[in-house]
Amino acid sequence: MKGFLLVALLSTASAFYLREQDEFDFKTWMAQHNKAYSTQEYNERLQIFTENKRRIDKHNAGNHSYTMGLNQFSDMTFAEFKKSFLWSEPQNCSATKGNYLRSNGPNPDSIDWRKKGNYVSPVKNQGGCGSCWTFSTTGCLESVTAINKGKLLLLSEQQLVDCAQDFNNHGCNGGLPSQAFEYIMYNKGLMTEEDYPYTAYEDTCVYKPEKAAAFVKSVVNITAYNEKEMQDAVATRNPVSFAFEVTSDFMSYSEGVYTSTHCHQTTDKVNHAVLAVGYGEENGSPYWIVKNSWGTSWGIDGYFLIERGKNMCGLAACSSFPEV
Ligand SMILES: *[C@@H]1O[C@H](CO)[C@@H](O)[C@H](O)[C@H]1NC(C)=O
Ligand SMILES: *[C@@H]1O[C@H](CO)[C@@H](O)[C@H](O)[C@H]1NC(C)=O
Ligand SMILES: *[C@@H]1O[C@H](CO)[C@@H](O)[C@H](O)[C@H]1NC(C)=O
Repeated sequence: MKGFLLVALLSTASAFYLREQDEFDFKTWMAQHNKAYSTQEYNERLQIFTENKRRIDKHNAGNHSYTMGLNQFSDMTFAEFKKSFLWSEPQNCSATKGNYLRSNGPNPDSIDWRKKGNYVSPVKNQGGCGSCWTFSTTGCLESVTAINKGKLLLLSEQQLVDCAQDFNNHGCNGGLPSQAFEYIMYNKGLMTEEDYPYTAYEDTCVYKPEKAAAFVKSVVNITAYNEKEMQDAVATRNPVSFAFEVTSDFMSYSEGVYTSTHCHQTTDKVNHAVLAVGYGEENGSPYWIVKNSWGTSWGIDGYFLIERGKNMCGLAACSSFPEV
C-alpha cells in the first residue's frame, strides 16, 4: 500500500503501521529537540514517539480538562521516563498529625505568589536524576526566604543531593522536602546554586559552612490528606512543597487542569515532589498552580495546573514548608 510502511518489529509486541506523516512528525520533533540517533535506535525511537503521539492525539480529540502535547520526553516509554525522573521506591511520606496552625480567616478564592512580588525563582531542570525533591525544597525555601527576608536567592539542589543522606534522602533515587528541610535545619544552612552548582549526579559532599546562605528555623508538616490545611498555608503563608503520583499521561501534559483516573491517592504511591505556588478556579473547577522541575519547555512554561479538593494523585499526602 502506498503511503504505508510496514515496520517489522522484532523486539516489541505492539506491531502497528507507521504512516509517512509519522516519520515526518518525528523528524520535525527531532530537529526541535536537537536529537540524533544511531540507525537502530532511530527505528526504535520512531516507534515509541509514534505511540506517544497517537495517545496524545486520542486524548486531545476527547473532552478533557487538560490537553496533552509533544515535549522533550516524547521519545521515551513511561518505564524509561520513570527510571530517569521519578522515585524508584516509596519514601516515608506521611505526617498523620502535622504541626501546622491554621489561620482564622476564610481563604481568598485564588492566589498566585508569582504575581505578588519577586517571590518565586525561575523554573529549573533536574535533568536525568530523581532529584525532584531537592528542587521542591530549594523552590520552597527560596520563596519562604524571599517573603520573610526580602531577598530572592537561588539555592543549591546539589548540596541536598550530596549531603542530606542522614535524613532518609537518597540523592538521585528520591527523598522528601520535609526531610530535606530537617537536614538544612540541623546542618545550619544551605549554600547558593552559584557556590554549589547542580550536576545531576551524586557526588561527595563539599558543603562549606561559611558559605551558608539560607537557613531553616523549623519545619512545618501539613496533616496528611488535609488539603484545606494546605490551601490555608498557601493562602496565608507561602508556597508549599508537596508530592504526588506521576502516571504515564502526566508525562505528556501540555496545559489545562490535570486530572486522572489512573493514579492512586496513597502515600506509598507518590513518586514526584513539586511546589504549589498558588491556586484558583476555572469554570467551576478548582486547581493548584504548580512549579515543576523539568525545564521551561515542559507544560505551561514549566508549570502545571492540577485539580484541587480531591487529593488528586495523592497530592495532599505529604506537604510541608520551612520557617526561616
Ligand atoms: C465536556 O465535559 C464537560 C465537563 O465534564 C461537560 O460539561 C461538557 O458538556 C462536555 N462537552 C461535550 C461536548 O461533551
Ligand atoms: C524510612 O524510614 C526508616 C526508618 O527511619 C528508614 O530505615 C528507611 O530507610 C526509610 N525509607 C526511605 C525510602 O527513606
Ligand atoms: C516533619 O516531617 C519530618 C520528615 O518527614 C519529620 O522528621 C519531622 O519530625 C516532622 N516534624 C514534625 C513537627 O512533626
